[in-house]
Amino acid sequence: MKWPAQVIPSILSADFARLGEEIRAVEAAGADGIHIDVMDGRFVPNLTIGPMGVEAARSATRLPLDVHLMIVEPDHLIPEFIDRGADSITVHIEACPHLHRTIQRIKKRGIQAGVAINPATPVTSVAAILGEIDLLLLMSVNPGFGGQDFIPSVLGKVEAARRMMDEMGTAVRIEVDGGIRETNAGRLRAAGVDLFVVGSAVFNQPDYKAAIAALRVAIEAGRPSA
Ligand code: DX5
Ligand code: ZN
Repeated sequence: MKWPAQVIPSILSADFARLGEEIRAVEAAGADGIHIDVMDGRFVPNLTIGPMGVEAARSATRLPLDVHLMIVEPDHLIPEFIDRGADSITVHIEACPHLHRTIQRIKKRGIQAGVAINPATPVTSVAAILGEIDLLLLMSVNPGFGGQDFIPSVLGKVEAARRMMDEMGTAVRIEVDGGIRETNAGRLRAAGVDLFVVGSAVFNQPDYKAAIAALRVAIEAGRPSA
């Protein structure tokens, strides 16, 4: 089963001095959601924003806010992110010793729950949680920074995840994040990706509308004829 593809700009590469304006600009340019990268300087070697940043984004748009927590011990902050406007929260399997409990905590509040895995984490590690989640985020760079190069082996992981879901009879949306460009988006769509998080390939371009449109063309070109 496949959902329509979505392009979700990551504000990590936006101009933070004009964050509201940047979010409104990508919304006007045709974005399907806004991806917010939360980093703690421990799970990843960088720091970004917390619940207040989510609240600021919420005040700028009605688009779904896709919150990607790259933080250790996320449980105590989850209610705060939801109160400030998150529509989906994705946690890293590598940062959650009690992943099932963490996912339940998110789902109990009625928003979508996702699990992210790093490039070196095998897809089989999510088998036991697939039935509980809405999104599976396959990191296609090592998390922490925008503008990195796509790691090609993630393509095979997308195919493996899709196969595993087909065998289990579960339908979870597959999201990729990191190094997504026109040059790889089509192959990723053909492999089974539903949600495309894109930072630098939108915000580092002069024309956001043209950048999102070009990505959609590339994604459509990869759609399998079924
Ligand atoms: C990386 C973040 C990404 C990042 C992607 O840790 O999770 O969301 O913003 O940026 P690009 O698209 O530039 O690789
Ligand atoms: Zn992200």
